Amino acid sequence: MSATILVLNGPNLNMLGIREPEIYGGQTLADIEAMVSARAGELGIAVDFRQSNHEGELVTWIQQSLGQTAAIIINAGAYTHTSVAILDALKAVALPVYEVHLSNIYQREDFRHHSYISAIATGVLCGFGAKGYLFALEAAVEQTK
Ligand code: DQA
Repeated sequence: MSATILVLNGPNLNMLGIREPEIYGGQTLADIEAMVSARAGELGIAVDFRQSNHEGELVTWIQQSLGQTAAIIINAGAYTHTSVAILDALKAVALPVYEVHLSNIYQREDFRHHSYISAIATGVLCGFGAKGYLFALEAAVEQTK
């Protein structure tokens, strides 16, 4: 198994820094990528950090991760709450999945309380802001040793 962790980001996460900073914080996705990459370097693992606004592209990337990736860290954005296709892709590749949300989705609107991904996730991190990605990375590296 290759020592790469795929970090997937779904729709509107390219708008971080501009988008509702009182909820999502002031860091851009590029800031988060730099932070995650730096920590991954310290941990001796590669990260493949991606974002798409398109459900099918996320599904394709999950499918392509088979044999290339030790674990998947995913913030699927709004697709978390809607996408059976992303759930099915994650089940198909059967890799360890760490679900991340910047905000605490359980303190927010009812429609954000259900995640299709959580049922198959190894762990879920929400409400820690951008640090959730780092906590997920630490857990993924620990569990892929
Ligand atoms: C989010 C929470 C989702 O409900 C929302 O649609 C997002 C971001 C988060 O990181 O807190 O786009 O996944």
